[in-house]
Amino acid sequence: MRSFTLSTKWTALFVLFTALCCLFTPTVTVKHELFKTCDQAGFCKRNRAFADSASATGWETPYKIAPESLSWKNGQLQGTILKTINKNGETVRLLITISFLESGSARVTIDEEKRQKGEIDLRHNSKARKERYNEAESWAIVGGLELSKTAVEFRDAATSTVKYGPDGKFEAVITYAPFGIDFKRDSATQIKFNDRGMLNVEHWRPKIDKPEPEKKEGEEAPAPEVQTGEDESTWWDESFGGSTDSKPKGPESVGLDITFPGYAHVYGIPEHAGPLSLKETRGGSGNHEEPYRLYNADVFEYIMDSPMTLYGAIPFMQAHSKDSTVGVFWLNAAETWIDIIKQKEAHNPLSLGIGSRIDTKTHWFSESGLIDVFVFLGPTPKDVTKAYGELTGYTQLPQEFAIAYHQCRWNYNTDEDVKDVDRKMSKHQIPYDVIWLDIEYTHEKEYFTWDPLQFPDPIGMLKQLDKSERKLVAIIDPHIKNNGYHIVEDLKKKDLAVHNKDGNIYEGWCWPGSSHWIDCFSPAAIKWWVSLFKYDTFKGTMHNLFIWNDMNEPSVFNGPETTMPKDNLHYGNWEHRDVHNINGMTFHNATYQALLERKKGEIRRPFVLTRSFYAGSQRLGAMWTGDNQASWDHLAAAFPMVLNNGIAGYPFAGADVGGFFGNPEKDLLTRWYQAGAFYPFFRGHAHIDTRRREPYLAGEPYTGIITRALRLRYALLPAWYTAFHEASVDGTPIIRPQYFEYPGDEAGFAIDDQFFVGSTGLLAKPVVKEGADSVDIYLPDEEIYYDYFDYQKYSGRGSKTISAPLEKIPLLMQGGHIIPRKDRPRRSSGLMKWDPYTLVIALNKEGSAKGELYVDDGETFDYQSGAYIHRSFEFKDGVLASMDIGKKGKLTDKYLKTMKGVRVERIIIVGAPKEWEGKKSVKTGKGEAGLEFHGEEGGKASWAVVRNPGVAIGENWKIEF
Ligand code: NOJ
Repeated sequence: MRSFTLSTKWTALFVLFTALCCLFTPTVTVKHELFKTCDQAGFCKRNRAFADSASATGWETPYKIAPESLSWKNGQLQGTILKTINKNGETVRLLITISFLESGSARVTIDEEKRQKGEIDLRHNSKARKERYNEAESWAIVGGLELSKTAVEFRDAATSTVKYGPDGKFEAVITYAPFGIDFKRDSATQIKFNDRGMLNVEHWRPKIDKPEPEKKEGEEAPAPEVQTGEDESTWWDESFGGSTDSKPKGPESVGLDITFPGYAHVYGIPEHAGPLSLKETRGGSGNHEEPYRLYNADVFEYIMDSPMTLYGAIPFMQAHSKDSTVGVFWLNAAETWIDIIKQKEAHNPLSLGIGSRIDTKTHWFSESGLIDVFVFLGPTPKDVTKAYGELTGYTQLPQEFAIAYHQCRWNYNTDEDVKDVDRKMSKHQIPYDVIWLDIEYTHEKEYFTWDPLQFPDPIGMLKQLDKSERKLVAIIDPHIKNNGYHIVEDLKKKDLAVHNKDGNIYEGWCWPGSSHWIDCFSPAAIKWWVSLFKYDTFKGTMHNLFIWNDMNEPSVFNGPETTMPKDNLHYGNWEHRDVHNINGMTFHNATYQALLERKKGEIRRPFVLTRSFYAGSQRLGAMWTGDNQASWDHLAAAFPMVLNNGIAGYPFAGADVGGFFGNPEKDLLTRWYQAGAFYPFFRGHAHIDTRRREPYLAGEPYTGIITRALRLRYALLPAWYTAFHEASVDGTPIIRPQYFEYPGDEAGFAIDDQFFVGSTGLLAKPVVKEGADSVDIYLPDEEIYYDYFDYQKYSGRGSKTISAPLEKIPLLMQGGHIIPRKDRPRRSSGLMKWDPYTLVIALNKEGSAKGELYVDDGETFDYQSGAYIHRSFEFKDGVLASMDIGKKGKLTDKYLKTMKGVRVERIIIVGAPKEWEGKKSVKTGKGEAGLEFHGEEGGKASWAVVRNPGVAIGENWKIEF
């Protein structure tokens, strides 16, 4: 039984205290005592102890495949693993399925036979489901499960070998005893399962209540019975911070070691604040002491460089070496921890370390659920990200406004306030697309209502925004105020809320005070949620209103670790423990579905921002990194976090520009805007207690510099949108770390403060250090790089110093690329729709360049029927050509007609050949256009400009220089 019950009064005080902390804490640091360390999480402690035993000499894994149980059918190997559970040799039967997929990925699933058959008894007459949770797949996976038709299996007395993947180059060698799997590519081992013997499936067992040993008079109390050596103290219940978790199923964790031989770097497993290249976690100088934790939580005032959990979880990891990238995806929705160690392995004992290689050894364990792991054998980072995306889906192609600038704060106080900010942004000619409303817009935190005094005319407000194609995003959280208002009454009546362990509606505390939580695992709850967003239900909304989902970890102020008790029950009677990390995604999904169906016939791409996420959330909208602080270290931490999210398949990411807590100094705010202009999701946001900081308030020179950063983002929107399109079709990150673009260049493997934007060749390193007036940027090759703004040339592999006074963003164009832009400053991206393009051609050493542009209506799903322009540009041998690379669909011609008048207004050629000096014109096919040449000057490249070449963006053409 949960022993922790707060009286209403105390809870109210607690909430007030939490809120006050938010308001008045100037120097802030996480409250460690609110979150478990590994030692305080029973299963984490047990699995680490198990790992230590497994590392000792003489250890033998208790898991063996029963060879006679194996069967092979249609690309799938199935069999029984026998787990020896005591010295008498008694065993428990586990079912293993290894699936080889048509895509070249492999999947290993291990479950318990007894639990699959429902042959277990739960304690306390619990209503919880008996099986191990096996529905994570239905939330995370959307494709790529087709079984291989070409995989073949061979068996001998000790092993089973399967050849699979492209040209049969992949191989899985399954050893029966001790059980282990080696995954190979071109005969070389890339990934090893259970190589260190840490496979652990805590099988179901009944709780045997042993009578208290009797103490006879005059005798010492007998010593407690010696246990099996395992720490059983948290098997049957577990307390932390005043809450007790009843564990009706007893111990049920799963764990496995996964080794990457020859790989010195691993990336992924967001969300953590720390470097892109993950650190070791079992102590030692510069290493973490704790494993990386994945247990979605509202971590107030989170700290830097820490493996502590944050708001979202993607259990996907890439391992990288000079000539190979591989990956694993641990499909489990329960609390998960990952230990990482790196070990030098000498090839030969006499080599004294010369020629030694580094192996990264990881150990994954989750509190409940299945062992369900996907294996990707690369060989490039792009192959791994693509294969992962085939399973979990690619980034949703957002509406174009969503990748422009968002102006948010907690809170814009009235509809007049919103309109005022909107007018002032226009007056100062600062572009923005979206203004946001935080929780205070509601009538006393009742979602789907407006505060009648502060927001008497939401439609008037939305209409003003609509005039300049601007939008509003309003927050809707998953906690529903428990005060009898119509929404909560409906929720209760329809029984669509999460239940507590006794089967009653769960009650906890969040912003509104006492609340219930919608259970978006339930199809009926999703249906109901969808109905709440219809324009005639959510009054005061119209087509330019979109949604922000916050607190969906879920955040529960009086819950254990600020979230829900693990023994709460969801739809289907799954315990919250089993599904926790997916919870946020189910809420995001319900809201996404709702925005698809607001009005019959009106189908626009939804925009929903989420704080909590899981593998697959990339299909539903953007995420942000939560409550950061207005400090330089938080500014610096954001890029590694956003980059990491990108390689874990969720690139539509950003951090609160300016920092959420605290008041940024003006130079910090300015630098943050310059950095934010390179976040795929670009939003300024601030805590309710901070001073107002809309860009026009900063004053000069800051406002001017911020405006230029914003305009840079807007000018480059065609390039950003093209990068989003690429992510939406093959999962390639939008901003890309050095190793991703130059996988063979070891010097770049740990770099996480500079990055490439899409495939544009733009290489950025925004300033994130206080007082810095230059940055050292690393060039990975011998290509020419041009400063984006003044065409200063840099070349030669290695580090280059770029001067970066406050007004300057260090941004280079790599020779060999063509970058599409729109240079006319406007109030919003919507108003740029029909604007002409500028093409910037950065010539490489050979005098050529290539680029791409993707354009569609930026709003609807018509692009799925061919309503888009996809072009490849090439400059070679003095000729610039535009070629169609799109596929034709039923709406192609109609769309192209609407785009007929959209032309190229300017072509800038950076690094223009000297011979062009004196050249006055170029041939455009229809006639001629003027050319203006500027010679090289003091290290700055020569350049030329062609104005009005008279070519349309959607057509094939050639220009001869
Ligand atoms: C927490 C969110 O992280 C923050 O962005 C928001 O302003 C507050 N909740 C209030 O809704």
